[in-house]
Amino acid sequence: MPNAAAGVLEPRIAAALHDAGQAALLAAWDRLEAADRRTLGADLSAVDWDLLREMRALQAAGTTATPGLPDLTRAFTPPCLVLGQADNPIPPGRAVERGTAALAAGSVGAILVAGGQGSRLGYDGPKGLYPVGPVSKATLFQMLLGKLVAARRRHGRDVPLAIMTSSATDSATRDFLARENSCGLAPDRIFVFRQADLPALDATTGQLLRDRQGRLALAPDGHGGMLTALARSGGLDWFASQGVEHVVSFQVDNPLAMPLHPEFLGYHLLTEADFSTQVIRKREPGERVGAVVDCDGVHRVIEYSDLPPALAADRSADGRLRFHAGSIAVHAFARAFLERAAAHRDSLPLHIAFKAVPFVDERGERIVPRSPNAIKFERFIFDLMPLARRVCVVEIDAADGFAPLKNAAGAASDTEAHVHAALVDHARRLLARRGIEVAEGVAVELDTARIIDEHDISLPAGTRIESPRVVGRA
Ligand code: UTP
Repeated sequence: MPNAAAGVLEPRIAAALHDAGQAALLAAWDRLEAADRRTLGADLSAVDWDLLREMRALQAAGTTATPGLPDLTRAFTPPCLVLGQADNPIPPGRAVERGTAALAAGSVGAILVAGGQGSRLGYDGPKGLYPVGPVSKATLFQMLLGKLVAARRRHGRDVPLAIMTSSATDSATRDFLARENSCGLAPDRIFVFRQADLPALDATTGQLLRDRQGRLALAPDGHGGMLTALARSGGLDWFASQGVEHVVSFQVDNPLAMPLHPEFLGYHLLTEADFSTQVIRKREPGERVGAVVDCDGVHRVIEYSDLPPALAADRSADGRLRFHAGSIAVHAFARAFLERAAAHRDSLPLHIAFKAVPFVDERGERIVPRSPNAIKFERFIFDLMPLARRVCVVEIDAADGFAPLKNAAGAASDTEAHVHAALVDHARRLLARRGIEVAEGVAVELDTARIIDEHDISLPAGTRIESPRVVGRA
């Protein structure tokens, strides 16, 4: 970028800014120091101007409602296989057998999405480094990567793992993995790739915002950024080179996630689904999880903010919520499906959210707003669902597989305290199945690298645990 290095705005970029109606930035450029021009020039040269046009149109529409939603009054909850339920159309035992065989054959890979900014949690660093273990203080990364260590021990094969980072989390994540010896996984079986950023726009004017004099206000492009980033980084080819045919994705903030559950994988494989997904039974209309629905024969996930309150509260005659299949973002994909989807630029639509985004104003002052002033754009991986030829929905018990860390202490849900309670409760239930008692009020935790389920617990029945303990740790 010779021109920007010399402090001159490249004519191509100047023209694009002009065409995109970005008068504020063009005016600001003239007042910038050389160093700021260099960095801003670099940010601008990465802008996708066609996409910016699309983003401006969404901003001008002024609504957070997802465009192109079908008429949800025609939607219903699709049939779900229920984990462990004997009268499923596919017997659970058969699914376990099939999933176990795939894990033993080494044909299953995993993607951990860990590029989010974690703004609600307010933790200084990537969420993966948050010490969430109720007794051990193990980080989210340690607990989740531990599950792949345990799977290797049980099935005798590595599960190749791709970790998605972002500009917000990349270097701290790589440093962490180096420092912690990849949490016990083979480093050559981990592929770290970085998702893209998208610019934030002023919510009223649609102008590009600057975070500093010489930097655009940028944010990761949502967990759906995974699709393009995986393809561009060579991640899909890497999975193919590792012998992976099916990939599970899971999120860094859910330490109870069970992406490698053999029964779940078995259903995915036996139904020959392109896209399988774990759901929990929604009990309250206000639960902030998306709903898996079938509308006009097409499966999709409807964000909770897109589901009109009356429909969200609608119940069937048996008292169940009409839309009860709550998405927890644990998915399984056929690798071939991801390859097909990645080949299309428009596979995933943009969603918009109003957020408080710090910016430099026209006088050059940095403003940190308290209320939303900007629009951020994100893609969601679940929007791939309508493109799948076959979708398999598997209901799991939330107490076994869903405890997300989203909010700072004091919030009504999804705080560290809630996650601790869920992890301890889960450990207690598994221990109880082996006849092990835990004294009231005592915190217990399972070492995820050693214990997948109660069969891995070696303490003798009748043991009583009287003080905080990490079970499974040598
Ligand atoms: P959330 O939507 O909860 O976002 O992400 P977040 O960034 O963690 O938290 P807030 O909304 O700023 O408070 C759900 C999962 O998707 C990942 C996150 O890391 C988390 O695992 N994610 C989210 C990405 O990988 N990239 C993104 O751009 C957004």
